Amino acid sequence: MERRKVLRLFFVSTLAAVIAPKFSFAQFNQLEKLDFSSLDFGTDFKWGVATAAYQIEGAHNIDGKSPSIWDTFSHKKGSIKTGENGDIACDFYHSYEKDLDLLKSLNMTVFRFSIAWSRILPNGSGTPNQSGLDFYQRVIDACLARGIEPWITLYHWDLPQILQDKGGWKNRDAIVWFSEYANLLTKTYGEKVKNWMVFNEPSAFTALGYLIGYHAPGLKGLKNYLPTVHHVCLCQAEGGRIIRKNVANANIGTTFSCSHVDVYKSEERDGNAAKRWDMLLNRLFIEPALGMGYPTESLPILRKLNKYIQPGDLEKLQFNFDFIGVQNYTREVVKENAFIPYMKGLEIKPVKRGAMEITEMGWEVYPEGIYKILKQFAAYPGVKKIFVTENGCAFPDEVVNGKVNDTKRIDFYQRYLKEVLRAKKDGVNIGGYFSWTLLDNFEWSECFKPRFGLVHVDFKTQKRIIKESGYWFKDFLLSP
Ligand code: BGC
Repeated sequence: MERRKVLRLFFVSTLAAVIAPKFSFAQFNQLEKLDFSSLDFGTDFKWGVATAAYQIEGAHNIDGKSPSIWDTFSHKKGSIKTGENGDIACDFYHSYEKDLDLLKSLNMTVFRFSIAWSRILPNGSGTPNQSGLDFYQRVIDACLARGIEPWITLYHWDLPQILQDKGGWKNRDAIVWFSEYANLLTKTYGEKVKNWMVFNEPSAFTALGYLIGYHAPGLKGLKNYLPTVHHVCLCQAEGGRIIRKNVANANIGTTFSCSHVDVYKSEERDGNAAKRWDMLLNRLFIEPALGMGYPTESLPILRKLNKYIQPGDLEKLQFNFDFIGVQNYTREVVKENAFIPYMKGLEIKPVKRGAMEITEMGWEVYPEGIYKILKQFAAYPGVKKIFVTENGCAFPDEVVNGKVNDTKRIDFYQRYLKEVLRAKKDGVNIGGYFSWTLLDNFEWSECFKPRFGLVHVDFKTQKRIIKESGYWFKDFLLSP
């Protein structure tokens, strides 16, 4: 079951009728001639792809790497229903040179990737693993040799297991561990890498991993979730400060999973539930960084965070980020439901307004949502610049005669990009757009089935085929 569905089920009362979304591919627009080109975004606009270490690297136990929480979780029987894991994934560890060639061939100039903490600090802290450090040095050099800018995310969900054994993010010591890790990375790579992001989607990894247990490390309940939220928020700002201190001329951001939230039917009845979801999904992690504190007004249960806040913490939650990474895939439609615990009647439903377009993840295709969420984030006075650090879609691709004719994905990108451009023309300061993602990869608890890549991967042979959507980007990025 895909993860938004799991979150939904968590919040949806058993008494609620779940409205099944209907597939209707007839709804997808025909591919039209575009009325915009990449140049409309500006000549300094960055175009790239985003990736994550655990989803692509493989090489899970070689050259000194220790297990991360995802190695442990995916190896634990019953955690992931297909029993698959990221041991090999796309084997990017060995194939990064040719994968970066592919990226270059698509006319993209940014490669966003994350570092596997347990590859460079197998004990979580202490003595670094030189082979691990060397691997990322080679990736950075391979990017630079191709004229591709490396953009590093410090943390994309794969905490060293050895730190999880000490409580992981739930333990306040996580601030010390994370600071040491961030210092090591920025001091090692800061000469060559100028673009840094602290976290990938804190609302996703804290809720999925520490509240509902659907992702690693598989923990549940507010007693795990609330301290995790606070320590992650503190590390978010501390990470920013460490990058600032160690990297001259750094461009520093952090990314957020975010979706425009709509009210299901009646503003009066469902409006408060929609506010609660907006708070959990879109506001909980950015507002403390902007100096606004935790947004607890519509969800009093979050006031329990106070238990973990120590004197001086509220100031330490703040950091003046150079940019914010907006990561958007769909929108959320929210309904009031009196039977839901914790969240006071928060029910998230697939909207049923006639047939709807959905991706293989069950997520609604709603291009206007990216426009709306960009406007929502840009409205914060403290947000100076935005990069769309992830946007993309999974569809059941087929290889026919050596080609993958993924017209639905091309259609998705065309329609979403049009909305990004609309926001930009409305004055939102958007600096770039990174597709999720270069390669089909290990899609966390959904394993290898959902394919998000611009490049098809045969996981048995590791053969790559550029999909038509990849070729579409290649042409688009050269379009006059
Ligand atoms: C995550 C990626 C994930 C993608 C598609 C994003 O939330 O950052 O790791 O693969 O969504 O589900």
